[in-house]
Amino acid sequence: MDKQQKTLSLWMFGLLFISLTGAHGLNNFPENFVVAKTNENVILTCGSKADGAVTWKFRMFPSEEMEDVDSEDNIQQEGQNLKVSEVGTPVLGEYSCWRGEEKLSSTYLLLEDEEEEELDSLIRCRAKSYDCNFTCKWTRDGYTAVRLGLGHECSEGGKSCHWVSSSEQLQDGGFQFVLSHSLSPYAEESTMLELTAEAINDLSILRRTKRFYLRDIVQPDSPQIVKCQEVDQELNVTIDPPSTWSTPYSFFSLEHEIEYELKDDGQTGRSSSSALIPKKISKLRVRSRDSLVLSTWSQWTPWKNVRTGKKNLCKCKNTAKSCCPELPAGYLDKCKTKGKKKRKKTVGSRHLKKKM
Ligand SMILES: *[C@@H]1O[C@H](CO)[C@@H](O)[C@H](O)[C@H]1NC(C)=O
Ligand SMILES: *[C@@H]1O[C@H](CO)[C@@H](O)[C@H](O)[C@H]1NC(C)=O
Repeated sequence: MDKQQKTLSLWMFGLLFISLTGAHGLNNFPENFVVAKTNENVILTCGSKADGAVTWKFRMFPSEEMEDVDSEDNIQQEGQNLKVSEVGTPVLGEYSCWRGEEKLSSTYLLLEDEEEEELDSLIRCRAKSYDCNFTCKWTRDGYTAVRLGLGHECSEGGKSCHWVSSSEQLQDGGFQFVLSHSLSPYAEESTMLELTAEAINDLSILRRTKRFYLRDIVQPDSPQIVKCQEVDQELNVTIDPPSTWSTPYSFFSLEHEIEYELKDDGQTGRSSSSALIPKKISKLRVRSRDSLVLSTWSQWTPWKNVRTGKKNLCKCKNTAKSCCPELPAGYLDKCKTKGKKKRKKTVGSRHLKKKM
């Protein structure tokens, strides 16, 4: 098989896979649905537009043909309504109500997922700051549609709940959400957030609510290492809060922790109380947390090499990789010319070789 054929067959396999899984799950929340427990009885109503005789049609998934509903033992039409008894897998799906050729309404009958799973094990939320947005990630696979809502209206299943759909489906099958809250970042936080999740797997639906304080999910982004200044035998490390952190910084105070590797023996050390650390180190990295509520620590920054002493300062061009003191303007230009000359020389000699 050549490369082109291989990619083509891979592609076709992918298409087949998508259409197969697509046929057996809902990728969106139906506009209308009714949730029933196993063996419960439910009554589906046609809606306000209905008067006179109506008929009901049924299909399990959107990809299937609709079939007329014949009254059976556990499905009975009563006037315009449809009564479904002893709900179980065979009767789940879309029921639509018709007057002749006109579709009046459609309702999905879904089964309540009664797994005793807590929302904590299904979803992870994180706020980069006390500002209005935070993100949540649905981590459990096997679900084809997930939505989240904040507030009492959503936990009560009210019609006016503002549901948030996933902003993207992640490669691992999870879903990512951006939620907005209206808590004031300056007020002492006394209100709990109430987060409700609904998730569809096949034709069953899971519904869970959890309550938490915003401060419990705060995790800042990594801070920025600005400079490393020699102060006698020590190094003064200047650290800036991450740009995504709440302002003013004097109010939303962060504490930083510095980790460093000693030049002599390669041992690592940490300092959290002071920005002054030993001078003879090869590299360092930093992380931050809210110092008031002792939030989760941020991720560490990448390691930065430490450049001190006059001899090393020419290596300060790449400040993303190196932590350097503040240098006088034009200092690095001197280093640049040196580098250029060297490069010219080597190019020159290579040309020479070719000619020979
Ligand atoms: C909050 O999220 C919305 C939607 O993703 C975005 O448009 C907005 O800029 C965000 N606001 C802040 C303060 O990050
Ligand atoms: C360390 O650097 C900061 C910021 O540049 C400065 O405000 C502070 O005084 C310095 N500390 C010492 C001990 O030099």
